[in-house]
Amino acid sequence: MNPIRLALVLAPLASVAGLQTEAEEADLGFTTFRDNCMACHLSTGKGIREMNAPSIAGLPRWYVSSELRLFRQGYRGYHKEDASGNLMRVNTVNLDERTIAFLGRYIASLPVNQERATLDLDATADAPSLYALHCARCHGEAVEGDRVARAPPLTRQQDWYLLRQVENFKSGKRKHANDFTYPELSQKETDAIIAWLSRLPSE
Ligand code: HEC
Ligand code: HEC
Repeated sequence: MNPIRLALVLAPLASVAGLQTEAEEADLGFTTFRDNCMACHLSTGKGIREMNAPSIAGLPRWYVSSELRLFRQGYRGYHKEDASGNLMRVNTVNLDERTIAFLGRYIASLPVNQERATLDLDATADAPSLYALHCARCHGEAVEGDRVARAPPLTRQQDWYLLRQVENFKSGKRKHANDFTYPELSQKETDAIIAWLSRLPSE
């Protein structure tokens, strides 16, 4: 069969099987995500807990590209005891600026994971007040993130991931906002904030 005829026969099959459309094929963000990211973050961008890979679907474009650059330059995922960060970092070393921009746009377009509360955390402390006092000035009054502070929304990622990042900030495995130390909160207070964040609706 000549290649054109073959393509005509295969194209409808591909759409029935849920394979890529032409528009998707043309999108560098989609193809790079499929080939380099989906194995850990899934096609939905909701991640695989067993891989420690978080939900990234719906994270803002500016944050995704900024984090990919931080991983690539070894500012994040550098610590020898940060196995998850290391795992992610090796996936960024070959990304060029153009691909990073397209990946950011593609990931931002994925619908946010609404099932982010997976742990049974103690939620008795007053999370909204603690958040307003300690976190809102950077992560936003409505937890929407702040591009100028480079602080992401905290309503896209699962509780287990957010909790681990806080541990990373405290142990020095990851830097929180240019050496801004994580506020002096008790574990109970942090748990309550994270339990609350993971149940906030996100658009
Ligand atoms: C081998 C598994 C794996 C692959 C492949 C992978 N990631 Fe990750 N990714 C992770 C893990 C694990 C983390 C969590 C890192 C941490 O704990 O600091 C992560 C974190 C991230 C984050 C940070 C999320 C946040 O909220 O800060 C982004 C963005 C991301 N990945 C995007 C990508 C993109 C884009 C690709 C493809 C180019 C990719 N990942 C490929 C495992 C992977
Ligand atoms: C001075 C500004 C600032 C304050 C205050 C602040 N953060 Fe952050 N936070 C940031 C920035 C900037 C990042 C992104 C770090 C990076 O670039 O990797 C971040 C990242 C995070 C992350 C990781 C998100 C992800 O997707 O990986 C968590 C979790 C977090 N902050 C929780 C908190 C909590 C909870 C509070 C309040 C108790 C708080 N932060 C207060 C600036 C701040």
